[in-house]
Amino acid sequence: MTAHKRYPIPDAIKDTTLLNEEQYQAMYNQSISDPEAFWAEQAGMLEWYQAPTKIKNTRFGEGEVSIKWFEDGELNASYNCIDRHLADNAKKTAIHWEGDTPGEAEAITYQQLHYEVCKLANGLKKLGVKKGDRVAIYMPMVPQAAYAMLACARIGAVHSVIFGGFSPNAIADRINDSDAKVIITSDEGRRAGRSVPLKTNVDKALADGACPSITNAVVLKLTGADVDWNDDVDVWWDELVDDCTGQCEPEVMNAEDPLFILYTSGSTGTPKGVVHTTGGYLLYTAMTFKYVFDYQPDDIYWCTADVGWITGHSYMVYGPLINGASQVFFEGVPNYPDVRRIAQVVEKYKVNSLYTAPTAIRALMAHGDKPAEGCDLSSLRLLGSVGEPINPEAWEWYHRVLGENRCPIVDTWWQTETGGIMITPLAGATELKPGSATRPFFGIEPALFDADGKELEGANEGNLVIKNSWPSQARTVYGDHERFINTYFSTYPGVYFTGDGARRDEDDYFWITGRVDDVLNVSGHRLGTAEIESAMVAHSKVAEAAVVGYPHDIKGQGIYVYVTPNDGVTADEALSKELRDWVRNELSPIATPDKIQWSEGLPKTRSGKIMRRILRKIAANEHDQLGDTSTLADPSVVDKLIAERLNK
Ligand code: WT7
Repeated sequence: MTAHKRYPIPDAIKDTTLLNEEQYQAMYNQSISDPEAFWAEQAGMLEWYQAPTKIKNTRFGEGEVSIKWFEDGELNASYNCIDRHLADNAKKTAIHWEGDTPGEAEAITYQQLHYEVCKLANGLKKLGVKKGDRVAIYMPMVPQAAYAMLACARIGAVHSVIFGGFSPNAIADRINDSDAKVIITSDEGRRAGRSVPLKTNVDKALADGACPSITNAVVLKLTGADVDWNDDVDVWWDELVDDCTGQCEPEVMNAEDPLFILYTSGSTGTPKGVVHTTGGYLLYTAMTFKYVFDYQPDDIYWCTADVGWITGHSYMVYGPLINGASQVFFEGVPNYPDVRRIAQVVEKYKVNSLYTAPTAIRALMAHGDKPAEGCDLSSLRLLGSVGEPINPEAWEWYHRVLGENRCPIVDTWWQTETGGIMITPLAGATELKPGSATRPFFGIEPALFDADGKELEGANEGNLVIKNSWPSQARTVYGDHERFINTYFSTYPGVYFTGDGARRDEDDYFWITGRVDDVLNVSGHRLGTAEIESAMVAHSKVAEAAVVGYPHDIKGQGIYVYVTPNDGVTADEALSKELRDWVRNELSPIATPDKIQWSEGLPKTRSGKIMRRILRKIAANEHDQLGDTSTLADPSVVDKLIAERLNK
């Protein structure tokens, strides 16, 4: 095995970080040997109406999975994010909003946050929203997206944020799965100088009674664009809250009451509504935010994610706000108006810690050193990466160009289902190796299993599992606990299966190698091959389709589709474009196929199962490593696919 480059902890930060190596080891050891005592003590990071006395009650049994943390504790999420800071920090900026267009900006203090959240919470109550009701949120990256989430949390409603890049069908599916009562949106969104028709998409989702559970759509006037209006359903945000006061008593919630649902793609079927509850989720996100970003009270923190994903929930809303942090909330994209935008925003707000995704780093890296040109990045102290494996080349660029060879990089591995960061370096405690997410956070016991369910010891490679529960673990799949058990706890009974592969090296560092199931990671966006396939075959000219990922320089993975058209259909460039537009509209622009290869037939086993392993190899131009093909029903299919492959 090749020796990896190492980056020792810089001397300059050794005395300033929250934790050093010994402290990390001591806390980690306690968190594993005595989780009850460890988490009971950490629970003091939150303010409780009723402090928990029962700490951990979790079972990953066969057929029975039950996860409860702090089950007799009572608290409110919005109180912890806002009210607790008012006594000392009311005038502190909670959100530095930076618009898509440079120069458009707004600072929101904790005091204002309180006012806006309370007003909307009262508005939602007026619409009949009660504790336990589900509220869908389909918003652009404006502070009102955070207000909407916190307003739900304040009154005990369960938010379900739908990423602003999803299409009407995807919105309707998510609304219907969760029986949402209200949807909160805006007239339009803005992205890289273009507008996104959010309200129109909601109208299409609700059309013809497609979402019977929805009683109202609350619409924020943002761009002032003309939108269709249905008086029975639609209500302007401003008008709704106009007569509402800026005071709203937070609802007292049990620690195990659901806080939100967030849909994510799996290897089969429709997206799953991952359910996170209140106490454990808040504690774990608060604590990981503090230690992973080495948070100091005067820091300016910036995460470039979107609130529509778990990163936005945990590290743009709950984690930073519970810590009373000041953060940048960015509406735009890293390369608009040009590739220096990230560096300019860092300079403008004197950002101390920056958390972004490998796909953004790779896109900037393509421009050499230009993305930092002429910008003062001296405020930066720490960099973070999330969403997909970061290749060492991108890591080195990030470290040198944005980090000026000074800032440690925390490569954080986690998932929608884990709620918070699971495997990560800590700036003051971990020597870095580019490309490795390094070591587990407190309370996390990662392990590697082989295909037969045997645990692998020492330096080894296998499937990544987590052996014991942690506070922010997802509790269930909304409305389908069986599916939760089947997806995560049936492959290896007794442990949580992540769906990722990983390697552990001689220093016990983890290297995530990517998904081992049929889940794609395209520009950090998680997509199920099954979802894209079902959108493809819904097209009248398509007989069959198989979707696989292939290595893509910027996106990490690209989407490669093998399509068998119906008899008599001409498979040409025009049809290819038609199918791409179709998926875009049916599902989302992020799911648009990169490559479409026509195929008269797909490689199948004699029992009719598509052999995706072979399709992946062909798409990756690795057809010389097909492996065992003896079970193929018709081997000639493969030769033809290889001859016509698109990634030569
Ligand atoms: C999948 C989870 C974590 C929040 C954003 C994505 C991949 C995530 C890393 C990383 C290697 C990573 C995994 C994981 N992933 N972070 N640092 N190194 N892979 O959340 O949409 O639920 O996707 O993203 O494959 O399973 P998600």
